[in-house]
Amino acid sequence: MATAKKVGITETVLRDAHQSLIATRMPTSEMLPIIEAMDKVGYHSLEAWGGATFDSCLRFLNEDPWQRLRAIRDKAKNTKLQMLFRGQNILGYRHYADDVVEYFVQKSIANGIDIIRIFDALNDVRNLKTAINATKKEKGHVQAAISYTISPVHNNESFAKLAKELEEMGADSICIKDMAGLLVPYTAYELVKALKETVKIPIQLHTHYTSGVASMTYLKAIEAGVDVVDTAMSPLALGTSQPPTEPLVATLQGTPYDTGLDLELLSEIASYFKPIREKYLASGLLDPKVMGVDINTLLYQVPGGMLSNLVSQLKQQGKEDQLDEVLKEVPRVREDFGFPPLVTPSSQIVGTQAVLNVITGERYKMVTKESKGIVRGEYGRTPVEISDEIKKKIIGDEEQITYRPADKIAPELEKLKKECAEYIEQDEDVLSYALFGPVATKFFEFRRAEKYKIDPDLVNMEEMTHPV
Ligand code: CO
Repeated sequence: MATAKKVGITETVLRDAHQSLIATRMPTSEMLPIIEAMDKVGYHSLEAWGGATFDSCLRFLNEDPWQRLRAIRDKAKNTKLQMLFRGQNILGYRHYADDVVEYFVQKSIANGIDIIRIFDALNDVRNLKTAINATKKEKGHVQAAISYTISPVHNNESFAKLAKELEEMGADSICIKDMAGLLVPYTAYELVKALKETVKIPIQLHTHYTSGVASMTYLKAIEAGVDVVDTAMSPLALGTSQPPTEPLVATLQGTPYDTGLDLELLSEIASYFKPIREKYLASGLLDPKVMGVDINTLLYQVPGGMLSNLVSQLKQQGKEDQLDEVLKEVPRVREDFGFPPLVTPSSQIVGTQAVLNVITGERYKMVTKESKGIVRGEYGRTPVEISDEIKKKIIGDEEQITYRPADKIAPELEKLKKECAEYIEQDEDVLSYALFGPVATKFFEFRRAEKYKIDPDLVNMEEMTHPV
């Protein structure tokens, strides 16, 4: 048995749990009443920000994400706050210039974040570098993540090598980020062992319950010496979310791995979230379908979300009967594209290309802009170099990018500041605008209307102020 020690718990109910189950729609008002109680639990950290929450605040909830962070920080006086950060993409969908990445990190920490979990879909460490350095400069905790995947070129050795590299880049801890729920218990045991033997910094494990194995995976990882695991309060756990917090705490009680967390206090907190779960079930936002076990995730090694996307893409074309062929084509396209882990955006790129290859009846007869982008190197370096044959087929004689994609993006912060100057009410607004442009300005207009108690429609009726 591994050297036993207390296991830390990162509680995800304020971020990944509702992102995975109810499309990131939990408003701040539903979080705040319970945060003081959660602050008493003694969690390793509260994952409370980043990921899709920032986009969702602005786009769907008419909320300022920065205000959410400050409000949570205000009530969580003792617990570390953690966020998820997509490397050079920050929380958006393209690569940003270094000055934007640096400013975002600075403001995240200034507003209350302690731990930043930084990942890249391709595990290209060049895409993590700026965010890692900025976090260190602001004296935050750098948790560098390994996007976990299964392929002929990914194994314990390659993951350990990557972990070592991240440690040398300055990571304070490593996260095994199993976004698709592919990590099975005995594999997790071996992987955690391999990482613990290679690096000195703590190892954290993040997975999803999708395939039904996640709690068992945690137990084996704990036996192998993992330091921290991610769980969610039971009313918003299981299914596509994380394993539930309370059963794991109960399982470890009285063992050398005891989390030290108080089950009674956790039960009180769970009672707070129960009616919230019921509310979302009643509204239809929480679909009981996502709560079941989906073993296809393991059979096809595709994330649950990707599988449902493939089904709906085929439905749209009236080609549902070709799902089996598409599922066989996915690993081939993935191999052609250098075995990227299947996570946003690579999951969409590989999935769509596989669908096109099948329904057109000829591989790469039609190629998407994004497929060209990944082959050209626009997203970074793929785990394996793409063959000359595929390069030729997809991008012809075009040169492949061999530098870090963000190297060619000029500083853009000043330009962005000018563009959104009329809306700025706080320094952070330029970052909301940098990431989500028109979505942010729409929110800024809403905020201004609220402030002056004006009907938001009025400020949009620009033509009325001009003589006709
Ligand atoms: Co996750």
